[in-house]
Amino acid sequence: MKTFIVGNWKMNFTVGESSLYLHKLLKRIKPAKNLEIAVAPSTIALQPLSLQTDRKKIKLAAQNFYFRDYGAYTGEVSISQLRSLVDYALVGHSERRYIFHETDKDIREKVAAAIRGGIRPILCIGETETERDFGETEGVLKDQLFGGLQDVSEEDLNKVIVAYEPVWAISSVKGAKLASPDDVQKSINIIRKHLAAKFGKEREEKIPVLYGGSVNPQNAEAYLTLDDVNGLLIGGASLIADQFDDIIEIAKKVTNK
Ligand code: PGA
Repeated sequence: MKTFIVGNWKMNFTVGESSLYLHKLLKRIKPAKNLEIAVAPSTIALQPLSLQTDRKKIKLAAQNFYFRDYGAYTGEVSISQLRSLVDYALVGHSERRYIFHETDKDIREKVAAAIRGGIRPILCIGETETERDFGETEGVLKDQLFGGLQDVSEEDLNKVIVAYEPVWAISSVKGAKLASPDDVQKSINIIRKHLAAKFGKEREEKIPVLYGGSVNPQNAEAYLTLDDVNGLLIGGASLIADQFDDIIEIAKKVTNK
């Protein structure tokens, strides 16, 4: 399976800054076999960046969209409008869940809409610190996973990417802590166990599972070499060319082992 390195720029960079930054990354990054690199700029930058990027090197991902294809939904952007611009779309990021109150129903509709539109959804799941302290991690991961995947047919499961992001480890969260590789391995095992139990081992093995939460060049290798982790979703460090580039180099090294 490929290794995925996905940068989530969140609400950072103007269109001009995004373009300059992408230019810098394109100059540095060389395509590598079995390594898929994508960045998720703000929605307004997607159109110009889609003309600028070399998709063999860096693909684009949407950070958000609405699940309906068109209509009277002021302020929203649909998958059919994004289709020619992006290959991937984040769905269910914790900032969407907790700041914008997206529910599992919203998330499942978005996952289904992305697949319908030929865009691979990156379904983000993860427990909060309180849920973790109360021993609810497994239940939360299971609910978010199957809540998000409910409307996906078994044949389409191989289009889905799952990203495990413990909310308490996301760098922008107040008092964020680093998840130990052991913590991450436990949750990845839980995710894979439930996917296999529901869809069968063969289907489960085709679903990439990424890790995200304060990933940087110092810890990237430890997360990437965990069993059944197929890549990283990176926020803060993806905004700094040297750091993003270093993580990509680490991924190349690990992938080619
Ligand atoms: P972080 O963000 O790498 O800054 O913790 C990850 C994310 O929110 O996807």
